[in-house]
Amino acid sequence: MPLPPIPIGMDAATAAINSSHPPPTNTSANTLFPEMLSRHSIICGATGTGKTVTLRFLTEQLNTRGIATLVTDLKGDLGGLGAPGGDSEKVSARVKLFGLDRNYYRSFPLCQWGRGGLSMRTTPSELGPELIGRMLQLNDNQQGLMHLLFHIADVQGLLLLDWKDLWSLINYAERHRKDLLTEFGTVSPASLGAIKRKFLALETRGADTLFGEPALDLNDLVTGNHTHLLDASDMQPAIYGILLLWLLAELYENLPEVGDRELRLVLFFDEAHLLFDDLPKNLCEEVEQIVKLIRSRGVGVFFITQNPLDIPENILAQVGNRIQHAMRAYTPTEQRAVKAAANSFRTNPEIDTAKAIGELAVGEALVSCLDRDGVPQPVSRLLIHPPASRLRPLDAEERAILLRNNPLQQKYNRKLDRQSAYEQLQNRREPAEQQPNKPHAKKPGTLVTELDRMATSFGRQIGKELVRGLMGALTGRKR
Ligand SMILES: Nc1ncnc2c1ncn2[C@@H]1O[C@H](COP(=O)(O)OP(=O)(O)O)[C@@H](O)[C@H]1O
Ligand SMILES: [Mg+2]
Repeated sequence: MPLPPIPIGMDAATAAINSSHPPPTNTSANTLFPEMLSRHSIICGATGTGKTVTLRFLTEQLNTRGIATLVTDLKGDLGGLGAPGGDSEKVSARVKLFGLDRNYYRSFPLCQWGRGGLSMRTTPSELGPELIGRMLQLNDNQQGLMHLLFHIADVQGLLLLDWKDLWSLINYAERHRKDLLTEFGTVSPASLGAIKRKFLALETRGADTLFGEPALDLNDLVTGNHTHLLDASDMQPAIYGILLLWLLAELYENLPEVGDRELRLVLFFDEAHLLFDDLPKNLCEEVEQIVKLIRSRGVGVFFITQNPLDIPENILAQVGNRIQHAMRAYTPTEQRAVKAAANSFRTNPEIDTAKAIGELAVGEALVSCLDRDGVPQPVSRLLIHPPASRLRPLDAEERAILLRNNPLQQKYNRKLDRQSAYEQLQNRREPAEQQPNKPHAKKPGTLVTELDRMATSFGRQIGKELVRGLMGALTGRKR
């Protein structure tokens, strides 16, 4: 059974007939088919043109159709989804214009993550050396060392579950630098020092809170029809980007395959350019690959961005549904962006797309969605449907109530601290610590014996999991 299609707006001419007209229904010009969302979508436009309001309306509509969504909220301004609307004059005016009344306003079941909500965590071993290195913005040498550190943890059977595990692994490598040489090759003190400094810098910016257990259980995202809101307003862009890349890979790897038209989860990535900023080419190609393949898992992605040129070409080429809000075209760079945006639409003889992009009012957009056969419909110019929830964010008290009533709170907001690298290394009676005056060179025998022991027992199995990077999942390096 296909889901009911979403009428995303009304053309200005219809709206201008000021007599009371009924709320818009689906026409060939204004319809978004939910089953086409796994073909991915983009919302573009300059600041203040209506992107976030459009995103909000679509999330609401998906929610009423029983589809779970995960929305990233960089400014912390989407919490109002959890409260009924009617607070904004502009929205009220449009509600009236669309033939709706106050009964239209309502709240939506919200599950808040991030700031003031549930902790969305992963473990360093899940994230893997590649993405951790990216998060730390390591250079090639340092990145190589990061892989080596994970390999050492692997061989040694050290579990990397939280931030202090990473710290103790680095300190361990520093202490045993010379011993490690025989077994693993050079551990450059300069690179080690640089990694330490970058770790410290990131820690003061809150990266440590991203790591730990309980890690996110993907089932909690896809079961039920909640709107999951990830408030990333206190998250550094680099951390935010990595978290989303990881999430994409996890979803791809762990969700079962579904039929072509089955939709299970829709992700809305606001400020999507942060995903791709400075992304190395090989990683970018892997992301393009995941975005392509994640369709088969019933996951649709919305990229929300100011400039379509911020999104890699190969990802743009995959996007099926397009909503384009106004963009300025004063500078040559802006003109290029407008041209690129205009060219991505299927033409409509009645609309000069490039010109219209410069003229669109706030809350108005050029729209072209895929029809039921997956063919892009000709571009149309629409006033976007107003949302039903409140624009004003939740205040601290409302957030607290929401969190208190969230059945997942017990599960996520009690941090576990299992035995892992930090404790393992503390418990291990290291010759280095017991005989501080003896030079390191005299002890490799002990260490190598220990390495062997760890490697043959529990190290190998868990290790395989430990060293996998995010993208190992795709390239088959994982298993
Ligand atoms: N569809 C709409 N209906 C009514 N008002 C809208 C609509 N879209 C945008 N607006 C108005 O424009 C303001 C800015 O929109 P917003 O979505 O926050 O812009 P952006 O995310 O592009 O920066 C909103 O606060 C609201 O007042
Ligand atoms: Mg916005």
